Parts: sequence; C-alpha cells; structure tokens
Amino acid sequence: MSLDIVILAAGQGTRMRSALPKVLHPVAGNSMLGHVIHSARQLSPQGIHVVIGHGADIVRDRLAADDLNFVLQDKQLGTGHAVAQALPELTADTVLILYGDVPLIEVETLQRLLKIVSPEQLGLLTVNLTDPTGYGRIVRDQQNRVSAIVEHKDATEAQKAITEGNTGILAVPAKRLAEWLGRLSNNNAQGEYYLTDVIAMAVNDGLVVATEQPLDAMEVQGANDRKQLAELERHYQQREARRLMAAGVTLRDPARFDVRGEVTVGRDVMIDINVILEGRVVIEDDVVIGPNCVIKNSTLRKGSVIKANSHIDGAILGEGSDAGPFARLRPGSVLEARAHVGNFVEVKNARLGEGAKVGHLTYLGDADVGARTNIGAGTITCNYDGVNKHRTVLGEDVFIGSNNSLVAPVDISSGASTAAGSTITQNVGPDQLAVGRARQRNIENWKRPVKIKKD
Ligand code: UD1
Ligand code: CA
Repeated sequence: MSLDIVILAAGQGTRMRSALPKVLHPVAGNSMLGHVIHSARQLSPQGIHVVIGHGADIVRDRLAADDLNFVLQDKQLGTGHAVAQALPELTADTVLILYGDVPLIEVETLQRLLKIVSPEQLGLLTVNLTDPTGYGRIVRDQQNRVSAIVEHKDATEAQKAITEGNTGILAVPAKRLAEWLGRLSNNNAQGEYYLTDVIAMAVNDGLVVATEQPLDAMEVQGANDRKQLAELERHYQQREARRLMAAGVTLRDPARFDVRGEVTVGRDVMIDINVILEGRVVIEDDVVIGPNCVIKNSTLRKGSVIKANSHIDGAILGEGSDAGPFARLRPGSVLEARAHVGNFVEVKNARLGEGAKVGHLTYLGDADVGARTNIGAGTITCNYDGVNKHRTVLGEDVFIGSNNSLVAPVDISSGASTAAGSTITQNVGPDQLAVGRARQRNIENWKRPVKIKKD
C-alpha cells in the first residue's frame, strides 16, 4: 500500500488570541504541527502535504523541509475544500487525513487505522465523548454500520444525543476521494464544504466505513484556546514521565518534570524536581540530576552528577564528572571523566581533561585544560579582545592560583603553577611558577583618614 498524508492546517484559531498561527503554538517545545509532521514521518508515506492558509508564510518558513509539500488554501471554505486543494499532488493509493492542531495522535493508532483501509473500505477514527458538543456525530444504521457523519450545527436533537464523535482523522482509498470531493456542496448550516459528507457518499457507493478508536481520548484532542493547549501540554508531560519511569528512571515527582525534545535514558537515573530537558538529551546509567536544572542538547555519561540549579546547554559530561550547584555549561563544554565543575562557574567552548577541577566562581571560555589541572577560585579566561576570541591552553597537572586573569592567547605548560592574583599575559614553561602581580609594600605608621564633621 502506498500512502499520501494530508495535514489540514489552514484554519485561523481565533480563540488563541494570538498573532501566531494556531498550529505553530508549542506543546512540549515543538509546534503542534511539528508534532503531527513527526508522527506522519514515522509512517513512511510517499508524500506529506500540509494545507496552509492563515499565516501561510510563517508556517512554511518555520517548518520547511525537503519531505514536505505545502499546499495553499486561499480561502478557508471547509475541511472538504482544504483536502481538495491537495488533490492534484496526490499519487498514492491511500490518503490519510490528519489535523495540524491535534498534536498527540500516536503512530500506533494511525497504524491500526491504516490496517482497515482498502479499495472497498474507509478507515475512520472515532471517539466516545461524555460531552460531544461541537463534534460531528457518527450516525449508524440498525446493523450498527456507519452511514453518515452529521455536524453538530446540522444535527437533529436525536443526533445530538449520539456520543460517538468524529475525530476528523480518516484513511480513504485515493481513487474514490477525488470523485467524492468533486460532489461536495456547501448547502449546510455553516456554508462550508464538509469533508465529513464524504462518508455518506462512500456508503452510497457501496463502501464500508470501518472505525477504530484511540487508546486515550487525549490523542485526538485539538487545541482551540490556551486552556486546551495547557491540557495537551500536561498530558504530553505525564506520558513522557511514565515512559521514562518505565525505562528505569526515578522521578522524584513526575508532575514537576518537563521534556521539550527527545530524551534517551539509561537505568537507575535519578531526577529531582523541577528539571527541564530540552532538545536532544542523552542520559546514561546512574546519572543524578538535582533539583531546578535546565539541560539542553547535552550528553550525560554514566554516573555523572548535576547538582541543583545548574544550566547545561550543548555540553558533554564524561563518566563520573560533576557540575554544580549553580553551574552554567554553555555550548562546546566538554568535561572528561571525573572532571569537576563547582558553584558559580561558567564554561563555554572549553575542554576539561580527566580529573581536572574548577571549583568556584570562574569563567572558562575557549580553553583547553589538561588532565588533573586545578583552577583556583575566581579565575577568568580573558578570551575576547573586543574583536576576536583567543584560546587559553593549560597542560596537565597545572595549578592556577586563585583570582587569576589568563589573557589569551596564552599557553601554560604541564606542571606549571601560577601565583594567586596573577594576570598571566605570557606563556609559562613546564614546571615554572609564574607570578604576575605587583609585589606587596607595607607602609609604616599609616594614618587612617578621619571623618570630616558636618555642622
Ligand atoms: C471538524 C469536523 C468534525 C469533527 C471535528 C473534530 C468537518 C466538517 N468537521 O469540525 O466532524 O468532529 O473537526 O475536531 O470536517 N481546516 C482547514 N481549512 C478549512 C477548514 C478547516 O485547513 O477550510 C483545518 C483547521 O485548521 C483544523 C481542521 O481543519 O485543523 C478542522 O477544522 P475545524 O474548523 O476545527 O473543524 P470543526 O468545525 O472543529
Ligand atoms: Ca476543531
């Protein structure tokens, strides 16, 4: 079976009260439409066609990718009209229709739907609702076969009592679709071309409409306003938390944990409260993450520890290394095995060799630090001359005294030491001690200034 996927994303979303098109509003750090595209890709279709209209340029700019075909729907004349815009682009024998504002749909659910579609049969995803207000209702005949979908605004009182609702997600044989869409009329309560009218046409043409249901109704929940957006967000986070716990992670409180990207985890990982994981984060076995940490696009190797209130972005923490509390690791930070970064230390584009230590109140930028080197409190790499960045290179077993300024480019060889309070502007050779500070003078009988009296 070959597959084309059409994602409807042209609607306005007035109730969001936003300058941003509705489908670009984020759930877990990705746009709603981005989530739908992600699921669509996992079905390996031959085409993904995104129907855009409101804010079309912004949507296209944000999500453009080689495997996406954007189709413009100039005027939003209804869901049937929207699918019709994509028709000239469709070449596969099955068409799956998804909604850009229904982001939590599971790939497994779509696979079940695709199993029941055939040249003689439609696959329709329906959901049982306690309050079906606003949904199209699934009308069934005496044999319980689907005969039509009636939109809420067109439904009789008896039809309004039906609790089986249309999710909008539908798999159809492509050959018939073109013909049915061509026969749609907008003679209904909303003056729209309803995609849902295709159901009765299919039944009249002798096709069967088979139904599937999602495992969880939240999978087919759309977001029309910010309250619903927040509900989708919480649901997504609960699902992620359960997934990680099932994989062997202890979450001190699953309700205070957020994932905004893709996380892979090892076993016996411990994550304290209020941790946010963003982008691609790899967490190996036995990692411990303290409370209130943000970790983005980083790799935490086996047994590494991040202590409370640290911000880690674009970093690699080697086996048994540790950072924090209050550490800031910026992109390009590499901590090799057992390296230690302590409190109020900022690291950027710098490598700390095996067992190297930078314990307190330090800025390390564009630096290469050899194994076992110890950097004293308050040390700053002066890596920027106002125009260009320069590197600071420290060998192995170097000892940098407290409160040093290392003016790059500068090279301090293995075994060298620097005195506390030094401003290092010249290279230091192996095993040398560099003293880069004014010699202390003690002045005898110093008279302290006296306070001038004001009358
Ligand atoms: C639609 C279904 C309804 C179903 C409900 C589920 C129709 C006629 N009705 O109703 O049976 O229960 O979804 O939420 O299909 N869109 C376009 N172009 C348009 C109109 C809509 O791209 O011209 C897109 C919207 O951006 C949205 C989706 O289609 O992603 C659904 O549109 P919406 O207006 O929300 O449909 P409903 O009236 O809720
Ligand atoms: Ca809707």
